[in-house]
Amino acid sequence: MPESSENISKRKKEHIELCLTDNVSFKGKTTGFEHYDFVHYAPTEVEIDKIDFTQKFFKRIIKYPFLISCMTGGTIEAESINAKLAIAANELGIPIGIGSQRQMFEDKKNVQSFKIIRINAPDVPVLGNIGAAQVVRYKSIDPIKYMIEVIDADVMVVHLNPLQELLQKNGEPNFAGLLSCIEKIANEIEVPLFVKEVGAGISASASKSLLDAGVKGIDIAGAGGTSWAGVEILRNKEDERNYFWDWGLPSSYCIRTNAELKNDYDFVLIGSGGINSAVDAAKAFALGADIIASARTILQQLNKKSIEGVIELIEGWFAFIKKIMFLTGSKNLSELRNSKLKLEEELH
Ligand SMILES: Cc1cc2nc3c(=O)[nH]c(=O)nc-3n(C[C@H](O)[C@H](O)[C@H](O)COP(=O)(O)O)c2cc1C
Repeated sequence: MPESSENISKRKKEHIELCLTDNVSFKGKTTGFEHYDFVHYAPTEVEIDKIDFTQKFFKRIIKYPFLISCMTGGTIEAESINAKLAIAANELGIPIGIGSQRQMFEDKKNVQSFKIIRINAPDVPVLGNIGAAQVVRYKSIDPIKYMIEVIDADVMVVHLNPLQELLQKNGEPNFAGLLSCIEKIANEIEVPLFVKEVGAGISASASKSLLDAGVKGIDIAGAGGTSWAGVEILRNKEDERNYFWDWGLPSSYCIRTNAELKNDYDFVLIGSGGINSAVDAAKAFALGADIIASARTILQQLNKKSIEGVIELIEGWFAFIKKIMFLTGSKNLSELRNSKLKLEEELH
């Protein structure tokens, strides 16, 4: 039986609460960023004040290559969170993702919690979002077109969360036919289609199939940050030693290996999953990410320090990244991506 709208809203509310109150990080696995260090370049000639992160993101200009990851929608709490995150994104000039838009169809009163993002962020790219489990069930792509229209989305994102669907009560771990649905959507919508994970990573070979199907952006959302298996295990009140809590491909591995696909494909590589500090962010760029993204850290910062806190955090991260660029002799992010990291063991 399909899950009721009330149940979905309750689940979304619990997700937000658990991400704010409980330790839902990976337990024994990390992003892998700590295994790398920057290559210091003593004769640097980089002028810090001239570093500018402004760039094009499809039809819009963004000030920082940072995406507020797709998080929420479809509950009262979500509307207030989205309203504030959107103000921060617009002020910062950065793209922002919306949580799964499935709830728009379950109950019309949920639509405003999504629309508010575009209302409060009129100048920046907004990314629509829907799950693979829903996509394979739709008989046509009309619902996707509607999701794009409601928020005037610049990009549509399909999230692949097989692990979460597997562990979630009432989950739908059945993605049969997914690749052909993705190909159809990519061909028929008027904005680029991205695909993301939610914390278990996307391997380069998986990305290859997705890019061949017409996807224009891959958000690897790797392991080492928020464990969505962990969130569902806590919701189910199951034993935390569940093997799947730590399932997934670390973010550093996913970014590094997906970056190699750039030789053959033109796509946006988003590095995310456990980007919780400026150092993580800089390493994600150095490993090959075009854009970086964070979810839980941003939600927690919003909860603690409101809109100004989110703005300060992102500006602070990029001010810090500039210092790393100075010390590694990188005038821009392309130069930072060019052999500026080494595995720690090579530095002995
Ligand atoms: C409260 C919350 C709700 C989320 N809901 C969605 C969602 O609806 N769709 C989606 O694609 N990802 C969703 N995510 C996953 C994030 O976009 C992200 O991929 C994941 O949390 C890993 O990033 P992190 O380690 O920075 O948290 C959600 C994350 C959080 C914290």
